Amino acid sequence: MKTQLITRTTGAPLNRIDGVQKVTGTAKYAYEYPLEGVTYVFPVQSTIARGMVVSIDASAARALPGVIAVLWHENAPQLAPVDDAELAVFQSDAVVYHGQFVAAVVAETSEIARQAASLVVVHYEEQPHDVELRADRGDLYKPQSIALGYYQTDTFDGDVEAALTSATVSLDQVYTTPPYHNNPLEPHATTAIWSDEGVTLYDSNQGSHSIRDAVATAFRLPPERVRVIARYVGGGFGSKAFPHPHVILTVMAAQATKRPVKFALTRQQMFALAGYRPPTIQRMRLGADRNGRLTTIAHDVVEQTATIHEFAEPAAVPTRVMYAAPNRRTTHRLARLDLPVPSWMRAPGECPGMFALESAMDELAVACGLDPIELRIRNEPAVDPETGRPFSSRGLVACLREGAQRFGWASRDPRPRARRDGSWLIGTGVAASTFPASQRPATALVQVDRAGNYHVRIDATDIGTGAWTALTQIAADALEVRPERVQLEIGDSAQPKAGVAGGSAGTASWGWAIFNAASALRARLHEEYGGSVPAEGLEASGAFDTNPEAQQFSMHAFGAQFAEVRVNVTTGEVRVPRLLGVFAAGRIINPKTARSQLLGGMTMGLSMALHEASVLDPRFGDYVNHDFAEYHIATNADVSTVDVTWIDEEDLHVNPMSAKGIGELGIVGTAAAIANAVYHATGIRIRDLPITLDKLLP
Ligand code: MOS
Repeated sequence: MKTQLITRTTGAPLNRIDGVQKVTGTAKYAYEYPLEGVTYVFPVQSTIARGMVVSIDASAARALPGVIAVLWHENAPQLAPVDDAELAVFQSDAVVYHGQFVAAVVAETSEIARQAASLVVVHYEEQPHDVELRADRGDLYKPQSIALGYYQTDTFDGDVEAALTSATVSLDQVYTTPPYHNNPLEPHATTAIWSDEGVTLYDSNQGSHSIRDAVATAFRLPPERVRVIARYVGGGFGSKAFPHPHVILTVMAAQATKRPVKFALTRQQMFALAGYRPPTIQRMRLGADRNGRLTTIAHDVVEQTATIHEFAEPAAVPTRVMYAAPNRRTTHRLARLDLPVPSWMRAPGECPGMFALESAMDELAVACGLDPIELRIRNEPAVDPETGRPFSSRGLVACLREGAQRFGWASRDPRPRARRDGSWLIGTGVAASTFPASQRPATALVQVDRAGNYHVRIDATDIGTGAWTALTQIAADALEVRPERVQLEIGDSAQPKAGVAGGSAGTASWGWAIFNAASALRARLHEEYGGSVPAEGLEASGAFDTNPEAQQFSMHAFGAQFAEVRVNVTTGEVRVPRLLGVFAAGRIINPKTARSQLLGGMTMGLSMALHEASVLDPRFGDYVNHDFAEYHIATNADVSTVDVTWIDEEDLHVNPMSAKGIGELGIVGTAAAIANAVYHATGIRIRDLPITLDKLLP
């Protein structure tokens, strides 16, 4: 019998324990720590996409009262070599993307720094740049692996070409998604304090150990001399999982001036300096027999990366686990372009990839004359199609059935343009969600005093998800005490090491380490002290390394997304009066914060379907719509009813809490559900996101 978490507090809708601090403004974010003698850094960004800095004239900037230093490649401290060349700030005269740091001013106020930066004169030797992604480029290459080594680049099974030729029904379509930029409400921000002992950072990030290790490497410091604190973070979505150049620049400025330095990226700067999701061109080929059973699935992705660092969006990865078919192929090919470095963003891979796969499944359902839910159920795999391993649990069909009932799917007339209300065409669509349920190594320390108060320490990070609350609940149940007795200490590299708040693996990983630490403490207390805490208190640490069952089972969360849309026949305007998401993600630790996360994910999916796109100007190699006036994100008026629910699963293979991640599941499939509903409403199939009105008008 496996050890499992007892459930008293977990599963209850506790209010956020950091809620009061947040709404009263006492929760301090990275930029908000008051410091004696603080200074500000402001960067000068390259205005070319490729070439060299020939000279920098900083005389006018230096002459401005309040300017402390101007830094560039000729006077900057030398850094140690870093894995990610994006972090080699001011280490050479090379310009490798538009918006790169080429100089920076440190000054007494942020306004002076900004004004002085505008006075720095940079002369470039410009070289022709190459920034346009096309599927027919001759120089596409196959990366060694994708998603920084997480997945293999290609998979093959059977004979796709032969199966396509002999399929009764087949489909061959290209789906495209634009670049997207991460835009957390709190911009990327760092405060650095350099001293003889080392450096302390207040930094907005998804994992302080990740930032600590990169800074220690770059500045040749022992890791224990770098402390990174991130108690409250206003969103990250992947873009704060690993450091970007602003962290290095801020530390460098603090080192050079021996003064504390603050830096918060402006919204515009975030469009070159904080990662982004690369655009994808996805060719999807499906073949099926007369009953709609898939005989083949091929998903071939073309996308881009930067010249200086490779990041490959794993867009075809979800296709590897979704449906059974004897002949299967997934591939990823990259163009290396003179653009900023792409990175993690909101369900990397699954998010754009499932737009393609789930749109194609809808098209196949139409071609087969089958209901799209029935088509998915017929192609439900008995085991993971890629690895042959059984699923630890797989709730897709249950979610589809539950969703169909709640949404009123049974009364749907499958014909396009069947429903109309005045000048609005009405349609409904469905799509599946999936995301891996994974864990990463973590350690935790639990201490108890005589009064029965528990301190739980772990370098977990709450990026707005509710981790403060969920981990307190897990600790309380693991210790068998009321949550009021638990004092959590997170968001600090001085706490025991843990992985980033990313990959939807936070709660599962940190929770498992806390569970182990709590179990160790309870064992010590009973075995060594007969159950009563000694005068000096007692502590125990616990670690989680890897889940041995991850080698035996395929572990994923699933979901079903339903959308109703209204499309105006005169203007092409699309409205989404109703979204429903039904998810199967193990046991939900806190239904209140979980609902909020899933609702947020679905809203991001709606945003992806209708609004978001970064627009590249190929003449300059720059993303031009770099602010919230022009990079459109769904706002309250765009979101109507979003209904979120789930099916509880007990899955002790995944972890003692039975918890699968939910951070990214909510966004996956939403855009396809909306696109499928738009097709149902209008008869127009949009394979290129976002679904703007021009694409719906004749
Ligand atoms: Mo998320 S893109 O794994 O931070």
